[in-house]
Amino acid sequence: MTLIAVEGIDGAGKTTLAAGLAAARPEVVVLREPGGAALSERVRALVADPALDVDPRAEALLFAAARAQLVAEKLAPLLAAGKTVVLDRYVDSSLAYQGAGRELGVGEIAALNAFATGGLTADLTFYLRVPPSVGAARLSGGRDRLERAGAAFFARVVAAYDALAEAATDRYVVLDATQPPDAVLAQALKHLQ
Ligand code: TYD
Repeated sequence: MTLIAVEGIDGAGKTTLAAGLAAARPEVVVLREPGGAALSERVRALVADPALDVDPRAEALLFAAARAQLVAEKLAPLLAAGKTVVLDRYVDSSLAYQGAGRELGVGEIAALNAFATGGLTADLTFYLRVPPSVGAARLSGGRDRLERAGAAFFARVVAAYDALAEAATDRYVVLDATQPPDAVLAQALKHLQ
């Protein structure tokens, strides 16, 4: 029973890596955040909607509520059944986006999420590191509400992820995500062996 989180800014290639891991290791279950459970998917639609005014504290609580439901309904039972779960974003997304990006404070958001998850943490975190300019250039089509946040916001998010990676070297694996997807996947698989 292992929980593997995939983290990084928008356009880093998290979803591509998660799909690649699932293809290489058919026994793993892939879930995404926000989402992965019916309630959480509805919250996903709310937080992404550019037409909605969402206060930063409300935003943090919405992500935490979606996460609480995902943990209770899916993650905890899957891990208890001995499955390996690859999770496309987890608590560190909130630490970076709400704690640092929205400037609510990483410590406050960590406390909120400890409550939401009942203390369930990732065993391993793949951090797909790209400069904000590279992430933004990869986003195609319309931007959702969070993807419209400015350059200063994403600079804070990247700095927060970098700090988390430095503080938690036991669980963080930093991958250079400016590389082609195959190279990123190969590095991730090497770490899983
Ligand atoms: P993402 O999975 O990147 O969406 P998509 O697959 O549509 O690109 O997540 C949606 C957005 O939500 C993304 O901009 C990051 C943001 N987010 C937070 O701000 N906090 C969180 O806790 C999570 C899980 C996501």
